[in-house]
Amino acid sequence: MSTSDGLPTAGTPAAAVAEAAVPAGATAHPVASEQVVVLDYGGQYSQLIARRVRELGVFSELLPHHVGAAEVAKRKPKGLILSGGPASVYADDAPRLERELLELGIPVLGICYGMQLLTRELGGEVQAADVGEFGRSKLTVTESGRLLAGLPHEQTCWMSHRDTVFAPPPGFTALASSSESPVAALESVDRDIYGIQFHPEVVHTPYGQDIITRFLEDICGCERTWSANSVIDDQLARIRAQVGDGRVICGLSGGVDSSVAALLVHRAIGDQLTCVFVDHGLMRKNEGDQVISAFRDHFHVPLVAVDAEERFLARLRGVTDPEAKRKAIGEEFIRVFEEEAAALADRDGGEGARFLVQGTLYSDVIESGGGTGAATIKSHHNVGGLPDDLEFELVEPLRALFKDEVRAVGAELGLPERLVWRQPFPGPGLAIRVVGGEATRARLDTLRDADAILQDEIRKAGLYRELWQSFCVLPDVRTVGVQGDERTYGYVVVIRAVTSDDAMTADWARLPYDLLEQIASRMINEIREVNRVVLDITSKPPGTIEWE
Ligand code: XMP
Repeated sequence: MSTSDGLPTAGTPAAAVAEAAVPAGATAHPVASEQVVVLDYGGQYSQLIARRVRELGVFSELLPHHVGAAEVAKRKPKGLILSGGPASVYADDAPRLERELLELGIPVLGICYGMQLLTRELGGEVQAADVGEFGRSKLTVTESGRLLAGLPHEQTCWMSHRDTVFAPPPGFTALASSSESPVAALESVDRDIYGIQFHPEVVHTPYGQDIITRFLEDICGCERTWSANSVIDDQLARIRAQVGDGRVICGLSGGVDSSVAALLVHRAIGDQLTCVFVDHGLMRKNEGDQVISAFRDHFHVPLVAVDAEERFLARLRGVTDPEAKRKAIGEEFIRVFEEEAAALADRDGGEGARFLVQGTLYSDVIESGGGTGAATIKSHHNVGGLPDDLEFELVEPLRALFKDEVRAVGAELGLPERLVWRQPFPGPGLAIRVVGGEATRARLDTLRDADAILQDEIRKAGLYRELWQSFCVLPDVRTVGVQGDERTYGYVVVIRAVTSDDAMTADWARLPYDLLEQIASRMINEIREVNRVVLDITSKPPGTIEWE
């Protein structure tokens, strides 16, 4: 009833699959028999390790280091990776290595702190060195061993540590060194334990992916069977098993997460799903129409589109404080959504939807405790922040996926490129970008026009996907200018464009001068209300991405 990797095939009878399927949302992982667990010791690159493993076609889950060997064993992993972490192995409160993890009968790879833990636990020598090693380092392979076989004698690697391994544990072989690390890699083939001081998961270690491949394929014996696309069939079966013939509702925001989640659910259960798209009048130009036409006309998903612009603008009247704006929008959103859910229930003879689709991603799951089932899951605010007490059972088909995997699934499901690659857009929309004042329709329209020009030019320049976000801000400031022979007194538009991996930190994007000039001149020529354009060159920190 399944392929060799345990994933149901497209042709598998649904009933047979349903029998074996676990309700979506019960665990973070799909039915993948081949997986490698990454234990997270708090390193800044831990998520990246899991992503790299997945990129190589092996499913990988990131679990907090304290989950215990039994929790790891439940997943029947083919290998275990211990991540890096900020602690010193000698600190009193440093995370320890549970010995049972080494008795699971699977290969173990320690990275950075993970290697130091292994070394200390097994009788090697780890010490705080006088000099730390941060950034690029030259790695010299002294003994290829099993882990580094086939790699060049000398290569660059990325280091980030102060504690250093000076001698491997008894029975282990030192494989490599760097200027500050006498032992930068080690292994014991007999015990199937491996360690590297550097970070193979970052791009600055050019042979990093080769090393991870060796660990996965040659050492753990994993087959490359997992892909974001292989998840689709698995999720379809899970959704059907969870929902049965129940009714399902989904708040569609136009963002990639809710769009992909909605499409997956629709493919699984068809018209048992109804999507609700609340147009709060704070979207970008034509955005609402694009969402409606993609879902209703192209995918034929039952869709209730609510034009709630008047309501939201009325609610925002006189509101200038950023948090007050967010609160007003959030509350209004919930009210509209609840009304629509009730109207749908009435239409269906009183029987409302029992299930609510949420586009929760794996990074949300990790942030809220690692998907072990122990932690409460952070409520997802993509659709504007639905409260916890809504009486729905959640359907979360993206809980196992990273953002780039969600995009891959979206593309496979035929979601238009524009929606697949849409940059993040905040729930309160443009209301928090007309800053220092009230979000009136007139100001929102000016901002919408400016934003449309910015997006158009950035797309034409081929830069849209490279930027984490690009948008305009409209402060409540007017300045003097001169156009033709006339003095003008118009609004200032701010261009904000940032690069980022996760929005926690961000750098202002170095947009080409010619492009900036073209954007500025179009805005001033095409939008009567605007007579000045400025560029925000603040990174995060100290700034935030949004202005409010
Ligand atoms: P900041 O401005 O805090 O933004 O650097 C980080 C990321 O979060 C987005 N953002 C929001 N998203 N509701 C949302 O759904 C909000 O109220 C909100 N505020 C900021 C922001 O666009 C950026 O991607």
